[in-house]
Amino acid sequence: MSEQAQLERVLVGAAAELPEGSQTEVSVGGQSVVVVNYEGQYHALKNNCTHKDFPLLGGDVDNGRITCEKHGAKFELATGKAKTLPAVKPVKMFRTEVDGGQVYVLPL
Ligand code: FES
Repeated sequence: MSEQAQLERVLVGAAAELPEGSQTEVSVGGQSVVVVNYEGQYHALKNNCTHKDFPLLGGDVDNGRITCEKHGAKFELATGKAKTLPAVKPVKMFRTEVDGGQVYVLPL
């Protein structure tokens, strides 16, 4: 990774402090991003449901999907795709990486 890229990535925290099933929020380029550890994989999605801009942070996670608590839309963690109504548009995704035991989100 280039030095420039390292400067731009955003630290989420130690992987040991983000166990399976956990979720947290970080700011990436001024955008709120929710980071979810689902089955050992870190997924980072813009923290806004595409139905009515409700935060996704804290939504139930099941079957590889996060549920918006406002009206129940489900989004696929791996792709951001809306899988159930009332949402139809995908959520913006960010890449993640684990380096030296630390979890990072990479800006788009
Ligand atoms: S705001 Fe998320 S489903 Fe309506």
